[in-house]
Formats: sequence, structure tokens, C-alpha cells
Amino acid sequence: MNRQRIIDAIALAQRIVRHHLAVQPGENVLIVADPETETDIYLALAGSVQAVGAEYTVALMPTRGQERATRLTRPIERALEEVDVLIGVTRASGAPTYAPRVAELLAQRRIRALSMVMRDLDNYLKGAATADYEALEALGQRVAQLWSQAEEIRIQTRAGTDFRAGVTKEPVMGQVVIVECGLAREPGREAAFSDGEVSQRPRTGTSQGVLVVDGPVAGLKGMDPFILEVEAGRVVRLEGGGHRVRQLEAVFRSLPCARHIAEVGIGLNPNALRNGDFEEEKKALGNVHVALGSDLFYGGTHECGLHWDMVLYDASVWLDDLLLFKDGKLMIDETA
Ligand SMILES: [Fe+2]
Repeated sequence: MNRQRIIDAIALAQRIVRHHLAVQPGENVLIVADPETETDIYLALAGSVQAVGAEYTVALMPTRGQERATRLTRPIERALEEVDVLIGVTRASGAPTYAPRVAELLAQRRIRALSMVMRDLDNYLKGAATADYEALEALGQRVAQLWSQAEEIRIQTRAGTDFRAGVTKEPVMGQVVIVECGLAREPGREAAFSDGEVSQRPRTGTSQGVLVVDGPVAGLKGMDPFILEVEAGRVVRLEGGGHRVRQLEAVFRSLPCARHIAEVGIGLNPNALRNGDFEEEKKALGNVHVALGSDLFYGGTHECGLHWDMVLYDASVWLDDLLLFKDGKLMIDETA
């Protein structure tokens, strides 16, 4: 590893701890990493926590593949009961973000959390990381309000997606539509870094239509487009000749629960790069992601060992009759 990267990691960590999480003196911050995490990241975070007069605990959990990808270790679950802030920096899995106990503690507003999972240091320093997060939060709140007032969301893309879902009206972590715009300063707030999206779990059994996945997918290698047909909230058909279809067929065989449509999310970050990385691209202004698998984080009851985001490029999005995006271009006044 290039040791000089610690310089950039320190500046980033200070920004995260002071600005994005507003960590206060005396608070307890749990940082969860795995063997694939770049060490500079969690060392810099720990140092920054200490520098503001708070206490860090760093927990190293096993590398998780497809199996139990949303499970923390039992001792880490116990530790969560004692902390004010959780920062997940695991590289191999999203366990600190998608673990059921984390969702419960957020819903009870006992912790706040920042998800930096499944990323490299570059993701934290370039592209979406450089956005104005105060402006992003304001846009996120505005879009979330419009979405939560609608009955149905409809998504189309030039690649052929034509998908719709009913709007869930029950709040999760106090929000009908979850705003994740990089800031988590109050108990119950959850954000990622880098960030910039609003999302929710579709109303049970209502998502339907055709998804033409032309962007990256968490957990799948390659970029060949494929088609998913969705009926009553679950994938009923999979089509396309490429490598990703074969990978996904295998996943559906071993984990049938992965057919469940868990989440619809809308990217809002104007600085996100188009670099093939699903975490970066799903946050890009005008991209949409639809996730397969577990919806526990989104207030649902569907348990599954995975939660995989699938990115759709440059979407047109309607909230009932309101055209929010046209081919990826925001159609409402950002500053209104
Ligand atoms: Fe999302």
C-alpha cells in the first residue's frame, strides 16, 4: 500500500467525524472493518474520533461473501448496544449497514450511522465525495416530500425499463422516504459516504414491470445488460445472454429470497462519476437503483442473506403525474 495515502485519509476522516456525523466529546464511536478494508481508513477515523474528545472502538469482522453478507458477528452486535455512532467500513460486505439489529437501533433512534461499506479510498475522495452536502440534503428532503405524497412511482429508461411501484406510507427511522445525503447528526439518522439518494421499500406486492439493467450491480461482475420481469413484488423472469444473467440465475437457485424487490432509490449527486462502481453510480443524479433481497433496513420483513443494488442509467421518473426526472435530467427547480 502507498503509505502517503494516509495524508488524504486523515483529511477525509476529520471531515466525516466533525461535519458529517458531528461527533461530540464523550460519545462512543464503533468502527467496523474487515480484512479487505484499507487500514489507513479506519486508523484515520479512529484518530479523528479521538481528536474531538470522543472514544473509538475498532472491530474487525470476517470477510463475508454471499453467505451471511448482512450478518455482523455476535460480539459486534452486543457492542452496538453501547455506542452512539456506528461507522461501517467493511470492504467485502455491507454487514454494518444491512444487519437487522442496526435497523432496529436506528428505528429506535438509539444510534446514528454512516455506511462507507464496499468502497475504496478513492470513493471517499473523488466524484460524489466532493459534492456540497448541505445542498444535497436540502434537495433530498424536497424530493422525499414529493415522493411520500404520491401514490405511485413510475420509472422508464431509454434502454427499455418500464416499472412501477406503490408508495409505502409507513415511516422508517421517522421518514416515509429515507433521505441519505451524507449527513447523520441526530440519533436515528443514517447516511452513506459518499452519498446522495432518496429511497424506500415499495408497497408490499405492488412493484411490477420490466427492468432493463444497464448499469453495475452489487455482487455481479460485468456490465452486460439484462432484463428482469417483475410481478407482485418479485422477479418472475430473467433474460439476456450474458455473463451476469448466468451469475444471477445461480444466485436465485441458491437464494430464492433474492427475487424480492427490496428497494427503489433515486440518485441525487451531481458530482458522482460514471466509473462502473455501483456505489458511486447509484448516487448519480438521474440514475435509479432497484435492489433485490433483504428489505429489513427499509422497514420490511423480508429477510435474505443479500441486498443487491442494480443501477439503471438516466431514468425518467414520475411521482403520480409529476415528472421528476426526464432521461436523467432533474425537472424540478433545485432551489425552490
Ligand atoms: Fe439505496
